[in-house]
Amino acid sequence: MDPLEAMERVAIRAARAAGRIHLKRLSHTNISRKSNAIDLVTEADHESEAAVIDLLQRAFPDHAILAEEGGGSSNVASDHRWIIDPLDGTTNFAHSFPQFCVSIGYERRGRIQLAVILDAFKSELFVARRGAGAYLNHKPIRVSRVRTLDMSLLATGFPYDRRERRRFYLCFWEAFMLRTHGVRRTGSAALDLAWVACGRVDAFWEFGLKPWDVAAGSLLVEEAGGRVSNMDGTKLDTSAAQIIASNGRLHQQMVETLAAIRPEAERRHAEMLREDQAAENAGHD
Ligand code: IPD
Ligand code: CA
Ligand code: CA
Repeated sequence: MDPLEAMERVAIRAARAAGRIHLKRLSHTNISRKSNAIDLVTEADHESEAAVIDLLQRAFPDHAILAEEGGGSSNVASDHRWIIDPLDGTTNFAHSFPQFCVSIGYERRGRIQLAVILDAFKSELFVARRGAGAYLNHKPIRVSRVRTLDMSLLATGFPYDRRERRRFYLCFWEAFMLRTHGVRRTGSAALDLAWVACGRVDAFWEFGLKPWDVAAGSLLVEEAGGRVSNMDGTKLDTSAAQIIASNGRLHQQMVETLAAIRPEAERRHAEMLREDQAAENAGHD
């Protein structure tokens, strides 16, 4: 058996273990804050991370692990690394809004080779191996065939500094709302990518994502015939993920539109900072 196929089996077992925890904890979990008032974490994040890491470490004791909640051994020197978001869509999960998943990517020498994303609520398992295509519940998937933005449905998300940078992010939302059939904010970046891969949305963009948000999903998109890149069209840097993922046909239009909107987004952000400062100064008078 191809060694990657054996690894895929372990990764799927790990994702299913996490998925069982998600379903057990849904509507029965305590919520705490992380970096700020809207960046949440639940017991399900920690428990599902521990379950995934336990299975992976038993199978691959000398591999490195990068997991969102800090479990595992990220400083092990190894060519092999697992990148894990144990629960992507925590805000949804905390509100029993059923759009969340576990995302597991396997990287060899800095290149993602294997992707497993499981949406346990909808029983949807997305899997891709580099060079072997992308699958949803074992059936091959392809990106959509939409050619122009005016015929497209897009997805996006807002990072946890969204209150401080609201006008910047909303400027892109507004611009795409005017140019497309619609924009969706689903609350799970990993599923947004999986949904580009299976053609439910035609393209996705988001600022400020982390490696665990995009590792698995970016391979799914590529293996389903789509494209992923940094926002300026260059090769995706998963450590500073400012991502565009698309069906390929829309990619250049996404790059150009985002670049065209950016100066206005920056102007509105600067204006907001000045207004906030003026309001704060007035409050001190
Ligand atoms: C978040 C989700 C959300 C995205 C945020 C992510 P989390 O991940 O993917 O859709 O907009 O930027 O941080 O915190 O639920 O794992
Ligand atoms: Ca995430
Ligand atoms: Ca998470």
